[in-house]
Amino acid sequence: MSEFESVCERYRQRAQQALQARLINPLNRPAKASARLHQAMEYACLGGGKRLRAMLVYACGEIAGANPAQLDIPACAVEMAHAYSLVHDDLPLMDDADLRRGRAACHIAFDQATAVLVGDALQSRAFEILASGHEHDKQKHDLPPLQRLHMVQELARAIGAVGMAGGQALDMEATGNAIAYQDLVQIHRLKTGALIKAAAIMGGLTARRIDPALLEKLAQYASAIGLAFQIADDILDHTADSATLGKSSNSDHKLSKATYVSLLGVDAARAQAHKTAAQAIESIQGLGDNGRFLEQLAQFVVTRSH
Ligand code: IPE
Ligand code: IPE
Ligand code: MG
Ligand code: MG
Ligand code: MG
Repeated sequence: MSEFESVCERYRQRAQQALQARLINPLNRPAKASARLHQAMEYACLGGGKRLRAMLVYACGEIAGANPAQLDIPACAVEMAHAYSLVHDDLPLMDDADLRRGRAACHIAFDQATAVLVGDALQSRAFEILASGHEHDKQKHDLPPLQRLHMVQELARAIGAVGMAGGQALDMEATGNAIAYQDLVQIHRLKTGALIKAAAIMGGLTARRIDPALLEKLAQYASAIGLAFQIADDILDHTADSATLGKSSNSDHKLSKATYVSLLGVDAARAQAHKTAAQAIESIQGLGDNGRFLEQLAQFVVTRSH
């Protein structure tokens, strides 16, 4: 395993443990809560995923000088918001996808009503943990309220009407229609890029002393890899098989989605993905050794196999 892969693995394991501990508020689990809903939340959140967004929180947070234990909270919040977006994205009234992370999509493993509620409850839990901080260990790891408030604002904006939800709306409106290239860029920046950018910013916001210039670099970097990530997702949908992806391949074509592949073709889409990753790397020059992992992560985003 390369050093890059072992850092990824360390972040992934950290995120998995943190999510397991925080998915449901153990201090506040009423006896009559729905066991089925909780089971479905765990199913959607804990069963795999690359954890790219959590990795960004950890890596950007560490560069900004944050305490790693404090980064668990924004890492969990962004992964919960992301898992929610996937559960809703797969519903029959959106992308109608049966397979996710190598197994039945949440609405297949449970049912559609439960899948809607899983999304609602994961989103709510993401904000609850940001607002509450460390529920068990207040003295040791807690973040000042103003920092948590900034993170709440960042996440809310990133997944709302001018972020992920808005991008998903534009994606649905564009389905089956010819759209301009700039409109597609905007869809990708919103539906996928906004949360990826927020992950990097939230990592930076966890530092005790926030350096605005560094935060701006991290934001520019993540904004570029967010776009590159969705371009790569469009390419993989076209070129990889379902077993490798853990989700149905060729679904964009079947659904008549507007994608980089449908607009530009695979080769030009790939060139655009690499160009965008290079822009990401450009924007973090000057970070020295600290930036090395982020550079490798930008490469990974456009060379990954799933
Ligand atoms: C899939 O995201 C949806 C997109 C935004 C392209 P990921 O490819 O990060 O999904 P997981 O978390 O690894 O399953
Ligand atoms: C989804 O984009 C972006 C989200 C906000 C979930 P896609 O619809 O392309 O994601 P996949 O390919 O189903 O993972
Ligand atoms: Mg979609
Ligand atoms: Mg989809
Ligand atoms: Mg896709």
